[in-house]
Amino acid sequence: MTDLTLNNGVTLPAIGLGVFQSAPEETAAAVAEALRVGYRHIDTAAAYRNEREVGEGLRRSGVNRADVFLATKVWVSDYGFDETLHAFEKSTGKLGVDTLDLLILHQPVPTRFDKTIAAYKALERLLADGRVRAIGVSNFMPHHLERLLQESDVVPAVNQVELHPYFTQRNVQEADAAHGILTQAWSPIGGITFYPGWGDERTSVLQDPTIVDIARAHSKSRAQVLLRWGIQQGRSVIPKSTNPTRIAENFDVFDFELTADELGRIDALDTGVRGGPDPDQPRDAFFDVVIDEA
Ligand code: A2P
Repeated sequence: MTDLTLNNGVTLPAIGLGVFQSAPEETAAAVAEALRVGYRHIDTAAAYRNEREVGEGLRRSGVNRADVFLATKVWVSDYGFDETLHAFEKSTGKLGVDTLDLLILHQPVPTRFDKTIAAYKALERLLADGRVRAIGVSNFMPHHLERLLQESDVVPAVNQVELHPYFTQRNVQEADAAHGILTQAWSPIGGITFYPGWGDERTSVLQDPTIVDIARAHSKSRAQVLLRWGIQQGRSVIPKSTNPTRIAENFDVFDFELTADELGRIDALDTGVRGGPDPDQPRDAFFDVVIDEA
């Protein structure tokens, strides 16, 4: 297992279990299984509507709360200073915990950046009060970061963005690095390139001949190659799976190393085309999503 150190000295295990689109009834089992096989980092979000089940999985596992890095996200309909303080109460109430290891803004709201800033100020307050150990953002492009940095005091510890070989966002990675912000990859094995219902024309990065070739050379799976690529480049990765075999597989990436040439071949697959929503074009429907009380 590899730990990464955030810009405030807090450490997090590089690999976390992602639970985006994990059905509530499968989430507790997936979390408990991940903790059983050695994961110590779970990434959820209020908007995933499975925080309760994440908390249940944590308790079911028998692993000490203090030994698990637990991260969640504030949804955009809860932005604003008081609203975001309350969002913390909703999330911790559902998770059944007193504190969080990382709390991040799920995405910028470019049309209401004042609300985004107010939400971030609430995160700063929670950090100062010791309710969260680190704060950060998600889906922030360099221009969003610049604006945030101008209007806030605490540099985010993390920026979680779509990142897989077909969409590497070098500009975001460079902006993050320039400010000491850890880049965390969502969809690190490219789930967004093959999720059912996200468009028929997609090409799964797991089917890419370069990835197939490199996986064969190391006798590892394609997913393991993609996760290893992320870790070797210093990123945190949060692969989602509810399947016990794949949960274990995605954690078994510390017994091989990709060469510089292989890392470069994977980097070269970038298409510059994102699979997920454009952070500058949030859909109106996003704002209608109401996050339940705990
Ligand atoms: P499942 O939950 O059935 O395992 P990402 O985190 O990059 O978005 O990818 C998540 C998607 O990839 C999910 O559809 C998940 O399905 C699938 N997945 C997770 N781990 C693996 C793996 N090791 N090999 C193939 N598919 C995987």
